[in-house]
Amino acid sequence: MSAMPSAQHLSRASGSRLRGKVATTEALGLWRRLTLQVPGWPGSRPGQFALLQADPSRCFLARAISVSDESGERVSFIIAPVGDATTELCGLAEGETVWVLGPLGNGFDTDALVSSAGRVAVVAGGVGLAPFPLLLSRLQGNPATASSEVMVLLGFRDAAQAAAAGPVQAAAALMGEAGGRCRLEVSTEDGSRGPAEKVTDLLARHLRPGDRVVVCGPEAMAKAVWQVCRTVPDVRSWFSLEAKMACGVGSCHGCAITLADGSYARVCHEGPVFGGVEVFGD
Ligand SMILES: Cc1cc2nc3c(=O)[nH]c(=O)nc-3n(C[C@H](O)[C@H](O)[C@H](O)COP(=O)(O)OP(=O)(O)OC[C@H]3O[C@@H](n4cnc5c(N)ncnc54)[C@H](O)[C@@H]3O)c2cc1C
Ligand code: FES
Repeated sequence: MSAMPSAQHLSRASGSRLRGKVATTEALGLWRRLTLQVPGWPGSRPGQFALLQADPSRCFLARAISVSDESGERVSFIIAPVGDATTELCGLAEGETVWVLGPLGNGFDTDALVSSAGRVAVVAGGVGLAPFPLLLSRLQGNPATASSEVMVLLGFRDAAQAAAAGPVQAAAALMGEAGGRCRLEVSTEDGSRGPAEKVTDLLARHLRPGDRVVVCGPEAMAKAVWQVCRTVPDVRSWFSLEAKMACGVGSCHGCAITLADGSYARVCHEGPVFGGVEVFGD
């Protein structure tokens, strides 16, 4: 689905407040994939997000949601209904209006991921899979990926959650059909799909020296992934972090976190993607 925007186009138009309309809304197990038609959408990098708010909305603040995929001005999001705003977004019907502030944040550097020999491991926990269809299609479009193997490891609580894996599986399959080397494994913690294990068990089994790892998921899972990464030499890692957000553009400092060296960073502005060493130290 993804179409590659130019870097110049991205920097010129990032972070506009745009009015989108729901083009399609589909169930992904317990979650939904909402595809919006967003006139003026400038294109995004994988890992960037938008602040979404239904119009009208009963919620005061918009919520951060990762761009999951895009094709021109059609932009998809995968949303877990965990509270008021996400439930409201999941309940929208085709044709209804959504305010879209984005794209925001830094995103993953796909060139760095494929710039040296070795494999790329994409590790997701729960709805942390959301940014990865776009990441996989951008990796597929990057000529340097031809020399890399991509390993996609998805972890879910149970089979009901795992029903949302479809868009990532489809992007991985497209990469395979285009001649790329991409394998995908799914784990469920309760064993309702395959053996009962966590995504960190999959990673510990597969991780090799020199691999590069991208991670998106809950905080506890991110810490556990880091513990696995630091046991294997020469592994570089990047984590997409979550924080509660208000402005989304670096002004309110509501999303500030403390990095390993004691400095502060705003997840919405310096992040959401940070290097593993930056976040967790050595
Ligand atoms: C950069 C970024 C990208 C995100 N991408 C996605 C995505 O693609 N799909 C998706 O479903 N969600 C995503 N989220 C999380 C999403 O923003 C929150 O789930 C949402 O703000 C919750 O709003 P709510 O009103 O539905 O729930 P609330 O009533 O605000 O919260 C419900 C519960 O979730 C907790 N919570 C709220 N916000 C966060 C948060 N940001 N991080 C952790 N816990 C939170 C609350 O403490 C509460 O327990 C992302 C968050 C960030 C920061
Ligand atoms: S949400 Fe306001 S600075 Fe990040």
